[in-house]
Order: sequence, then C-alpha cells, then structure tokens
Amino acid sequence: MTELGSVAWPPAPIRTERLVLREPEARDRAALIELLASPEVGAFLGGPRPRDESEREMPKVPRRRPGLFVVDLDGSMIGQITLYRDTGHLRQADGKAELGYLFLPESWGCGYAAEACAAALDCFAGAFPGEPVVLATQTANKRSMRLAAKLGFTEVERFEAWGAEQWFGMWSRVTPSDRPGPLPTGRGP
Ligand SMILES: CC(C)(COP(=O)(O)OP(=O)(O)OC[C@H]1O[C@@H](n2cnc3c(N)ncnc32)[C@H](O)[C@@H]1OP(=O)(O)O)[C@@H](O)C(=O)NCCC(=O)NCCS
Repeated sequence: MTELGSVAWPPAPIRTERLVLREPEARDRAALIELLASPEVGAFLGGPRPRDESEREMPKVPRRRPGLFVVDLDGSMIGQITLYRDTGHLRQADGKAELGYLFLPESWGCGYAAEACAAALDCFAGAFPGEPVVLATQTANKRSMRLAAKLGFTEVERFEAWGAEQWFGMWSRVTPSDRPGPLPTGRGP
C-alpha cells in the first residue's frame, strides 16, 4: 500500500453529525489493540491479531499516515477507516484508492460506519475529483456487503481468493450534473 500522493490528505479532522475522523493519538492505542484482537472484527479478515503481539509492536502513538482515520465518538475511538492507494495486494485495484473499515463490535448497528465512510469518501472526492475508490470484501461478510451497497459501491466482479469468495466493487462520486433528471411522470401538459 502507498499513500495518496502529494495532496494534503486529509486536510483536517472531518466532522460528521455524530463523529470525528482524525489522526490516531496515544489515547487510541488500547482501542486499536482491542480492534485488531477482536474475533468478530477479524472473522472475515484472516482472524484476530494476538493481543500480546500488538502490545509489543504497536508504538505509543499508533502510526499515522495519510488516508488512515480513527473514528471518534464522544472522545473515544470506535473504529478505523483507511483510504490507501493499492499497489498490488489486489490485482483488480490496479493502483486505485481502496477503502477499508474496521469498527469495534459494540459500535455496530448504529450507522456509524456508514456515516464515517460517507464522510471520508466525500472528502476524498473533493481532494481527488473524478477518481474512483475500490473495495474488496468477502461475500460472506454480510454487514460489510450491506455497508458497501449503502455507500454506493457497485459490483465489478467476484473472485476466489484467500479461501473465500470476494466481492470487488467500485465507487465514484456522482456530481450533480451527472445525476439523472427527474423521471417523467407520464402526465404531460
Ligand atoms: C463492516 C462493519 C464496519 C459494518 O458495521 P455496521 O455497524 O453494520 O454498519 P453501518 O454503519 O452501515 O450500520 C448499519 C446498521 O445500523 C443501523 N442503524 C441504526 N441507527 C442508524 C442510523 N442513525 N443511521 C444509519 N443506520 C443506523 C442500521 O439499521 C443497520 O442495522 P442492521 O445491521 O441491523 O441492518 C462492521 O461490521 C465491522 O467493522 N466488521 C469487521 C471488519 C470488516 O469485516 N471489515 C470489512 C473489510 S473491508
């Protein structure tokens, strides 16, 4: 994975109705370790990361890089979003920016992931007009599949990898001028 080039990305913390998307801070370390160690979170991602390994290897201030956002609810980290330009782990991504999302299970079912991802995509589209974003997820990961659809990703293909069926989707901002006009009602003058 590489970062998203020379554009100042993200420009500043992104605020949504309920959340803040910001850089990781020292106070996020415990939640980040919890996130990686969670069996539910890792269920479709190759399994959880052993807690003691993260404790040993994660720096005091978790690593910062453009395109990595901690999702903060009322001052506490509830998840993480990444928007990295893919460089090869996924042939289909072909150098495009790829969205990833991981949320602590206690925060599932509240629309937080959708709210945070929509804001990150919006910000991305402002910084990189016209560039698509891709996403890969296991088809068995129903929550992730629902989220991808809700965000407006559309299926490009399905493929087998890492022992499971993967869904590969693409998103690009529909600008107001691209949107179809209102459908005719059939009632003319
Ligand atoms: C994928 C993942 C982020 C989805 O989380 P999520 O909370 O289900 O996703 P959303 O933010 O879209 O929330 C949707 C749910 O919130 C509910 N909801 C409640 N209040 C809401 C609100 N104000 N606005 C929107 N939805 C709301 C929706 O009805 C929906 O409920 P449902 O799950 O019962 O259908 C989460 O399951 C996760 O972190 N999984 C592990 C990591 C992973 O597999 N990532 C994929 C790799 S790319």
